[in-house]
Amino acid sequence: MPRYKEELLEEIRYRNDIVDVIGSVVKLKRSGANYFGLCPFHNEKTGSFSVNREKQMFYCFGCGAGGNVISFVMDYENYSFNEAVKYLADRAGINLPETEESPEEKREASFRQSVLECLKSAAVYYYKLLYSPEGRMGLEYLKNRGLSDDTIRSFGLGYSGKGFDKAVTFLRKKGFDDKVIQAAGLCNISEKHGMTDRFFNRVMFPIMDINSRVIGFGGRVMGDGQPKYLNSPETVVFDKSHNMYGMNVARRSRKPYRIVCEGYMDVISMHQAGFTEAVASLGTAFTAGHANLLRRYTKDVRLTYDSDNAGAKAAVRAIPVCRSAGLSARVVHLEPYKDPDEFIKALGAEEFQSRVLEAENSFFFELGYAERSYDMSDPEGRTLFQSEAAKKLAAIDDELSRDNYISAVASRYSIREEALRRAVAVAVPAYEDASAAERGEVPLPGKGGHGKRDDTALSGTGMAERHLLTWMADEKAVYEAVKEYLAPEDFSEGTAREMAVKIYEGYEKGTFNAADILTGFAADDNAREAAALINTKLYEIDSASERERALTDLVIHIKKAALSRDSEKYDGSDPLKRKREEKKALESLKRIRITI
Ligand code: UTP
Ligand code: MN
Repeated sequence: MPRYKEELLEEIRYRNDIVDVIGSVVKLKRSGANYFGLCPFHNEKTGSFSVNREKQMFYCFGCGAGGNVISFVMDYENYSFNEAVKYLADRAGINLPETEESPEEKREASFRQSVLECLKSAAVYYYKLLYSPEGRMGLEYLKNRGLSDDTIRSFGLGYSGKGFDKAVTFLRKKGFDDKVIQAAGLCNISEKHGMTDRFFNRVMFPIMDINSRVIGFGGRVMGDGQPKYLNSPETVVFDKSHNMYGMNVARRSRKPYRIVCEGYMDVISMHQAGFTEAVASLGTAFTAGHANLLRRYTKDVRLTYDSDNAGAKAAVRAIPVCRSAGLSARVVHLEPYKDPDEFIKALGAEEFQSRVLEAENSFFFELGYAERSYDMSDPEGRTLFQSEAAKKLAAIDDELSRDNYISAVASRYSIREEALRRAVAVAVPAYEDASAAERGEVPLPGKGGHGKRDDTALSGTGMAERHLLTWMADEKAVYEAVKEYLAPEDFSEGTAREMAVKIYEGYEKGTFNAADILTGFAADDNAREAAALINTKLYEIDSASERERALTDLVIHIKKAALSRDSEKYDGSDPLKRKREEKKALESLKRIRITI
């Protein structure tokens, strides 16, 4: 991952005026200092999407999307930070510096490049073969499974041929070194036969990375042979736990969630039926690497695993992986059909869509799965199940959320709520010692993983911080007044505090620039929240005295929150003394009168 110098990023931003960049994809109309248009990130009829040339920022008052030109490109194209920087550099004709590489690294990079080219040639070879007389069987197979020519083309499906070493020969002729063909995972090697084709008489599914580069293949037998799918091995370019099938297309989906399924054919059927937000893990379990990849595009995952026991088990394994990554997971029920492919064929896209929207809360899914291993008709079995449920409930960090789940579980399983509540209370202390991280769990709905990226449920303090930071970013005089009372540490940990640190630093050094500050956050994936922080619309306040009172209120609110955070953290010495000091600090808050 190349990292670029701040000056270079600034240059790239400077040479890509935000109004031009956004204006080329969103129709903008000028109104005062701002340009307005229809937000490309949510459906709307009135333009609440604003772009400000002076600040070089955009913000949507409707959905809260916001940031600078880099984060716009990230959001609009679903690019990573580096991809967006590269795109904008190209757009402005700026050459990005080669990153410092040793000769060894250069050799490796160029070898990887050859491997990628080799895989691409193989994909073209398989695709052509599918539409040649030799590929008739393969084409028939795919057509029989309901795939259109369009679908076959867009997924680049192919046929591997029946030759002993035809693909290898073809690739050699194209000029690929034996070492490259081997490294691409396209052949078997034996002393007796030398290099022979790995894929034989199979329909071929090229696997692409998010930039649509072929990195491997899955090959399916046409019928009942074993193994059903033969996949490429992991290679220098193919890392199964960090890539997902279909993500090259799914990343552009405007849906607020992504569908995760098990199979190649499921992805293809779903895309063909219009669900281009579907991806699959590649014949491996769902990993943290997959979760992190998904998190670049969504926080909401819908699992559509097979409806058999193996599928349910896979879902139960995937759920905590999602949670740890801060993704909320729901499970889609496909019964009585086996998988999305069969479901869509039987009931159609509309019905499938409703199932996706009705997906089950992951907590209840887990509980339902646990229930299967107990005999619920036997009091003993019920008791065992209920204590397992109590343990799971105790593991929910957020108190309110835990409370809600206790009521819901009690009513769903006809348990007396009082009894369940006591069982949970007994189980809670056991959990309080183990940190959430150790359990690999993140609290359930209501409390976003790190609090940091949770911009959906802003607390009163979060709002107050937003307003104040906006105000400070807008007017230096406000900053000068506020800094007498608040330090950056008084803002909540996470984006608000980071933003405060930058604003304070920027003003002190005389280099304050809102869009620059956002670049740092974009690299960190927080641009959206940060932009919201400094774009929050302030009340229209006219009189100076009202302004001062509003400002005073904000400062007091934030200071109070900071004090109560401190006292929660307090961990030693005399508690009485501590209380007195706290009281004194609160008293002194009453005397704050800010003038600007
Ligand atoms: P499935 O058997 O559910 O695959 O296995 P599918 O895509 O639905 O297959 P068909 O064509 O409709 O029958 C799920 C996934 O597990 C991996 C593949 O990635 C497959 O898509 N798999 C399965 C293998 O890698 N090898 C196998 O032998 C079987
Ligand atoms: Mn299937």
